[in-house]
Amino acid sequence: MPGTGLQIDYAHVLDTAIGPVHGLSPAEVRRAEPAVKDVVTRVERERRAGQHRYRDLPGDRDMLRQVRAAVRRYAGRFENLLVLGIGGSALGNMALQTALTPPYHNLLPSRSRRSPRLFVMDNVDPVQFANLIEVLGTGLRKTLFNVISKSGETAETAAQFLIVRDLLARKLGRAGLKTNMLVTTDPAGGTMRSIVDADGLDALPVPPGVGGRFSVLSAVGLFSAAMCGIRIENLLAGAATMSKRVATPVVRKNPAAMLALLLHAFYVRGKRLHVMMPYSFQLKDLADWYRQLWAESLGKQNDLDGQVVNVGPTPIKALGATDQHSQVQLYREGPNDKVFIFLEVERFSRDVKIPRVPGLPDELAYLQGHSLGELLSAEKRATESALVASRRPCLTIRFPVIREETVGQFILLWEAAATFAGGLLNINPYDQPAVQLGKELTFGLMGKQGYEKQARQAAQTSRRAGKSVV
Ligand code: PA5
Repeated sequence: MPGTGLQIDYAHVLDTAIGPVHGLSPAEVRRAEPAVKDVVTRVERERRAGQHRYRDLPGDRDMLRQVRAAVRRYAGRFENLLVLGIGGSALGNMALQTALTPPYHNLLPSRSRRSPRLFVMDNVDPVQFANLIEVLGTGLRKTLFNVISKSGETAETAAQFLIVRDLLARKLGRAGLKTNMLVTTDPAGGTMRSIVDADGLDALPVPPGVGGRFSVLSAVGLFSAAMCGIRIENLLAGAATMSKRVATPVVRKNPAAMLALLLHAFYVRGKRLHVMMPYSFQLKDLADWYRQLWAESLGKQNDLDGQVVNVGPTPIKALGATDQHSQVQLYREGPNDKVFIFLEVERFSRDVKIPRVPGLPDELAYLQGHSLGELLSAEKRATESALVASRRPCLTIRFPVIREETVGQFILLWEAAATFAGGLLNINPYDQPAVQLGKELTFGLMGKQGYEKQARQAAQTSRRAGKSVV
């Protein structure tokens, strides 16, 4: 990919780098191309018929206008922005924040931050939740709550919503609900929509036809990003550039198609663990976001013909250089069942020199005069080289710089790769039927009407667990 775009370097998955037993031959890649080309062509046809709606988000001017208008309503009035959501309604927000605002944004004094502190509460851990509410304390009036739930029925978000609604009503009066709460939910239906309408709450839409894990480039992810000073137009422009690139059926010019081809080819060969390892703190939460996208989209019991197939790669997140000191022993000498996807940054936005110190022993003297950026880049190259020496397949996705355009490209790249990989596995990448049972058992245990059978099932499982305790 030329110029300011992301590059995917796949030299180290080929047999020329890691040998014929573990590497792919150029002939194998060529043989896999027609199937991938068919998937891309089909997806383009389906897009024209209104499917794969997440691909329309980068050009959705109306959605952008609504987000901008909401930002104008709230900007400058709040010290804290607290996002309440889970899964696809939270991971994208965290990923954008970590990638595109300073690492310690929340600790900066408000005059240099010039935007609210952002907290994303994506769990119902009581200790964590109680402490956050305590920390906000007297700042409640200065806190905007963005509740994000497409369905409105997710137990975790619903519980948080009820607590916060009660808190605002008690501390700020009913008016507080309208001034300090913005709900992002389905524009037409669902439980949260009816509450929004009944309470007269301010709301932004989750676009119809876009599932949670594909929704970061909608109001779901864009509102909190824009509130924190992220240039969302540039994010969408980057995604639009990638959306064009991934529309071509020429696999060698289509980075998402090539990713899907390579990762699927390794999946078929038994390398079913896909380790994403960013060498940048800023990219670490994008690896979390990828983990959900890849796992929930591709892990399926049934294929599109209704056959039981139980497919899906297992995505793993690691962070360079930190996890070199916790994982790489396994990665080099353990089972050769993984593909490594490094995220590399060519130019960090800041760097820190390692000082020259007279009389330093040789063991440390080599470091002086270099920078932390150089060290981190060297660590990535060294780890990759060590893995290649152990015949482990390694891909690198290279960011020229981390900024809105490249992050937007990255998001669209992986979303499209998930669509194409779903096509190669012949499964539906947009549903998550297996998550449903756990949700229903929770409803049962929490006493929701109509879920008595699930309550009995869960209670029986708990009783059995209690019988074999050490
Ligand atoms: O990707 C998904 O669809 C899920 O992770 C959902 O985002 C998650 O379950 C939250 O759902 P909701 O937004 O309906 O509360």
